[in-house]
Amino acid sequence: MIGNNLKRLHVITWGCQMNVYDSGRMADVLAPLGYAPAAEPDGADMVILNTCHIRDKAAEKVFSELGRLRRLKEATGGRMILAVAGCVAQAEGAEILARAPYVDIVLGPQTYHRLPEMVARASRAGNTVIETDFPPEDKFDHLPESATPQGVTAFLTIQEGCDKFCSFCVVPYTRGAEQSRPVAAILREAGHLVSQGAREITLLGQNVNAWHGGGNGGLGRLLRDLAEIPGLLRLRYATSHPRDMDDALVAAHRDIPMLMPFLHLPVQSGSDRILAAMNRRHTADDYRRIVDRLREARPDLALSSDFIVGHPGETVSDFEATLSLIREIGFAQAYSFKYSPRPGTPAAGAAAQVPEAEKDRRLQVLQALLREQQTRFNAGCVGLDMPVLFTGPGRHPGQIAGRSPFLQPVHVTGTPHLIGHETMVRIVDTRPNSLAGTLVQERRIA
Ligand code: SAH
Ligand code: SF4
Ligand code: F3S
Repeated sequence: MIGNNLKRLHVITWGCQMNVYDSGRMADVLAPLGYAPAAEPDGADMVILNTCHIRDKAAEKVFSELGRLRRLKEATGGRMILAVAGCVAQAEGAEILARAPYVDIVLGPQTYHRLPEMVARASRAGNTVIETDFPPEDKFDHLPESATPQGVTAFLTIQEGCDKFCSFCVVPYTRGAEQSRPVAAILREAGHLVSQGAREITLLGQNVNAWHGGGNGGLGRLLRDLAEIPGLLRLRYATSHPRDMDDALVAAHRDIPMLMPFLHLPVQSGSDRILAAMNRRHTADDYRRIVDRLREARPDLALSSDFIVGHPGETVSDFEATLSLIREIGFAQAYSFKYSPRPGTPAAGAAAQVPEAEKDRRLQVLQALLREQQTRFNAGCVGLDMPVLFTGPGRHPGQIAGRSPFLQPVHVTGTPHLIGHETMVRIVDTRPNSLAGTLVQERRIA
């Protein structure tokens, strides 16, 4: 788009990887209207705040950011279109319009294919638009192909929504029911991403391993099909649920070398009592067995997980069961959170809430253990040679940055011609959140 038609779009993204993917797709939908990405919200023609509702004071955070954006909108004489998208918009859309009437558009995660029409309606003076229903049509059938060049690593949503209803979680309410995209659409989008420069694709879903292709098998089968795409070097998937880790998927870890040996498999707790209260529908031993099967299939597999401390009813001995599970499994990396009551979820109304100070204490103990494991895992990488996929320039001049198979950031001295390629790197040092290495040979592996 040229001349007067050019408009500037700034998207602010909070929350999970799926929100990152959605933000990109919202930009794709708006590109035919002349919207090009703007690095800053100041003076933009449109700003989208893509929100997350998972924890803490999600709504308050949104209102304080909207206060800042309101001033920027006023500075444009009110011309800027302000949209709130994502999971807070889905859960609290009406409240957003009531408390922040200067917002033009409120849209949920399942309606953003309708953005052009929403923008047209909002552009008529004084109109506000709210679209937070779960529409009968599938948004993926209405999204254009991404027109912007891809980075070396890309996300691809294959499954969305959740039917599991864990006691603590808002996702089934904000994203809706579990839905799998058809195989053909996924293969087409993956091929397009690779043609635009992607070399590593991470398949996304709230329960990505609940994906099913009708009669055509599950995620294990899909990974085999994706591995055939010429030019694609690496595959990952996130986030998976222990209950959906079937034999075909475990076998995929054995049989597909380009499926990276790093898996994010949230367990939340090591106590069977709390796992039951959470409605996770598996035990700590089930988790141990799954990890055993995975490690048998792929001995170098490194694991990551999510943990919640202080779920209602969690006693000190429940918490200690979580610490024991962590010690037994050994995680390369993990996320951990204090339980945060979410409006409308079953656990929020439970009587036995754990006091805040005790949640703080447990979180500190848990995080110290996880940090120790991460440090040990990274230290164990020193001296090893591993393939690194280079993704961009490093922090310092003359450096390039990439990712190890275990998703660790790796920095080496090297030239940009390696970006987009896999090269063998000897790891020589560890930093708190990254590795330093040297090129074993200048030659690309792929
Ligand atoms: N679908 C994934 C998790 C998605 S939410 C799964 O089933 O594992 C990402 C993480 O946020 C969860 O794994 C959980 O650890 C954390 N989380 C979700 N709701 C939370 C809450 N109310 N309080 C604290 N942490 C929460
Ligand atoms: Fe939330 Fe549980 Fe669904 Fe994960 S499986 S998205 S934690 S309800
Ligand atoms: Fe947040 Fe919604 Fe993702 S609540 S974690 S943005 S699914």
